[in-house]
Order: sequence, then structure tokens, then C-alpha cells
Amino acid sequence: VGALFSATGYAAEPAIDSILSSGELKVCFEAGYIPFEMKTKDGRFIGFDIDIAKHMARSIDVKFVPVNTAWDGIIPALQTGKCDIIIGGMAITPQRNLKVMFADTYIEIGQTVLIKSELEDKVTSFRDLNDPKYRLASQIGTTGAQAAKKYFPKATLDLFETSADAVLQVANGKADAFVYDLPYNALYASQHKDTVVHLDQSFTYEPLGWAIRQNDPNFLNFLNNYLVQIKKDGSYDRIYDKWFKS
Ligand code: ARG
Repeated sequence: VGALFSATGYAAEPAIDSILSSGELKVCFEAGYIPFEMKTKDGRFIGFDIDIAKHMARSIDVKFVPVNTAWDGIIPALQTGKCDIIIGGMAITPQRNLKVMFADTYIEIGQTVLIKSELEDKVTSFRDLNDPKYRLASQIGTTGAQAAKKYFPKATLDLFETSADAVLQVANGKADAFVYDLPYNALYASQHKDTVVHLDQSFTYEPLGWAIRQNDPNFLNFLNNYLVQIKKDGSYDRIYDKWFKS
């Protein structure tokens, strides 16, 4: 009996059983992470992860059910059964991997910085930011926050609940730089050319993976084989190109 219950008390039924009996694939993500998951003005969810999740649900004839969750609480949401899987641009880190299982890497990224445009001549490398005169911003609980502490220990770091709030500090000139994932920064910079400059040399290596509850080898096997299939049959590339090549 012990193995059937997680530390949170949630009866951890194999995800495939509940997905098939409910006819729903419940997917946790935090909307606002461009271009992986965004909420449109009329309340729909779109993005690279969303298209993959929809394709995944379709491949087993179940309904895709979005579960938009604060980033801070996204692993607890998975652990307590609010969703079956996190498809949310989550980096596979040793600390997270102690709590959840990850399917194989579906995309590799790294950390970069967005600097306020007035600093363009003074800050030419991410290394220049490790200086007490700089104020940095990132999102709570992310690898960006972790990287900021590790690479820029001399600077001041302000952490925000959402990436939107954090990056706004730089756009408003209240912070000097925003530390975050490269795809997000590249897209944000292309949309805010007047206020920020992207230093696009990434200084970390981060594999992103889909997270599931522990002790569920059937679901893990399903996901890894599904990933190989979409990578080889062109579906992955089609979805990738739609969101990353425009
Ligand atoms: N890749 C980073 C991490 O794993 C940030 C992900 C943030 N994702 C989001 N949906 N807000 O910490």
C-alpha cells in the first residue's frame, strides 16, 4: 500500500489509467512563457508546448485539458494530481529530479540576459553584470534565478512571481538586466527593440523535459517513445518551426 501513496497523500494511480478512464490529458504549465505557453486575449492557450500537448492527447484519443498553474506551485500541483504531466518549459535539474521523473529532453536551451538599452555600451558580455552597481531581475523558482545567484553574486537580485513582472523592471529602467531562458529573451527583445538589448550568448546548458509523478514507468515509457515518434515523423519539426521560425 505504501508505494501507492505519495508523501502528499495523493493516491498515485498510474497516470495512463486515469488518463484513459477520464478521457482527459491534464497538462500543467504556466502561461506567459513565450513562445511555449501564452494566454490569448480571449482566454485560449497557445504556444509550442500547447501544440505538443494537444498532439500528444490526440495521439491517444483523449481530450487536452489545460491546467494553468503558478510556476511556484507547479510541482506540488503535479504531485497532488491536479494534472498528469508538466509540459511547461521546465529544465531538468538534479533538485527537481529528486521530486519528479522527467521524460527525455525535448529541447535544449540556456540562460541569457536582456539589458536595458542605455547599458548597451557598458555591458557587452554577461560577465560584466557581476558588479555591485547592477540590479538584476528574474522569476522566483526558475533556473534564471538560480543562474543569477551563481554567476552574478555581487549584483543585487530582485525576484518576481511572473516573468512578465521581472522583465518589465528592465523595460521600465528599474532594473539593469533580466536573467532568463534564451528563447524567451530572444522573442521579447525582438518585440521591445527600443527598451532592451539581448546578449544572446547563453552561459548555461539546460535540457527541458516533461515532468511526471515518480514511480510511473509505464507513462515514462509512453512519453519517451512518443517523443522519438514525433521527432522522426516530422510533427515535432512542424510545431517547432511554427513557434521558433517566424
Ligand atoms: N526553464 C526555466 C526553468 O525551468 C523557466 C521556465 C519558466 N516557465 C514558465 N512557464 N514560466 O526554471
